[in-house]
Amino acid sequence: MIDYQTILDEIQHELSTCEHRGKVASYIPELAKIDTANFGMHLQLLNGKSYHTGRSKTPFSIQSISKVLTFAMAIALQNHNLWERVGVEPSGNPFNHLSLLEQEKGIPRNPFINTGALVICDILISELEHPKEAFLDFVRKLTNDPSINYNTAVAKSEQRTGFKNFAAANLLKSFGNLKNDVSEVLDFYFHQCALEINCKQLCNAFYFFANNGVCINNSTHLKDQHVKRINALMLTCGFYDEAGEFAFEVGLPGKSGVGGGIVALLPDEFVISVWSPGLNEKGNSKLGMMALEMFTTKTELSIF
Ligand code: DON
Repeated sequence: MIDYQTILDEIQHELSTCEHRGKVASYIPELAKIDTANFGMHLQLLNGKSYHTGRSKTPFSIQSISKVLTFAMAIALQNHNLWERVGVEPSGNPFNHLSLLEQEKGIPRNPFINTGALVICDILISELEHPKEAFLDFVRKLTNDPSINYNTAVAKSEQRTGFKNFAAANLLKSFGNLKNDVSEVLDFYFHQCALEINCKQLCNAFYFFANNGVCINNSTHLKDQHVKRINALMLTCGFYDEAGEFAFEVGLPGKSGVGGGIVALLPDEFVISVWSPGLNEKGNSKLGMMALEMFTTKTELSIF
């Protein structure tokens, strides 16, 4: 029997003495206010048991983690056209890289880099009458938690300073890979990124990716074949130009965000989340990556 609580507490204790905790994402001014001393973890087993340590109930900005959830909505709505507009290859470049998009004629490498996520937003805007409300509703259903909401101050903050995303959306539009207004796509994108969630809620939101498409309270389902593809994309593209490093160190499909959150899962076994706002130079949570490496090493649980 693995003593999960002791393992989580050990990880928190070992990392608490870390002096170099990374840097907060200052290009979004609201995120620059967050203290790098924050640290929380939550583990949800599929047998119903759960464990946590640190500030696992403090909400944080989900940022790019949201891209997996919008992608799940889009894949469920219209699988076929989607693959003409976004690829499935790791980009080997940072999340906000642009020149590859120009070389590849406006087709983003995958749905988790910013340009790919903007195309997914565009698809959802075309398909749904009220995409912002529908996305919020989807996450509330997945987590069974109606209290989850957007942090509009964070969305506005990025709206004021997200110049690279404005460039990305305009470049996509110039190649005909956005059907809706650039401003509408960006408004939805900045809101999805500004969703606020804690470690426990994050595990619940991603539970269905570990549970063959059935969410924690049975209410929402995603087809098995879609779950397979999304987990594959998380493993190969979830950490941008650090996807290889995450697979090497941790060995689980997962997704990061510049709010300092990471969620990862072992199909049929567990979902685990960690929040530590200091980022490494690739824009992924520095201590979050270390914590998950420690977890899969100590428990000897990974997909490999
Ligand atoms: O678009 C951006 O730059 C942010 N809203 C999200 C980037 C992000 O979270 C990258 N992940 N590590």
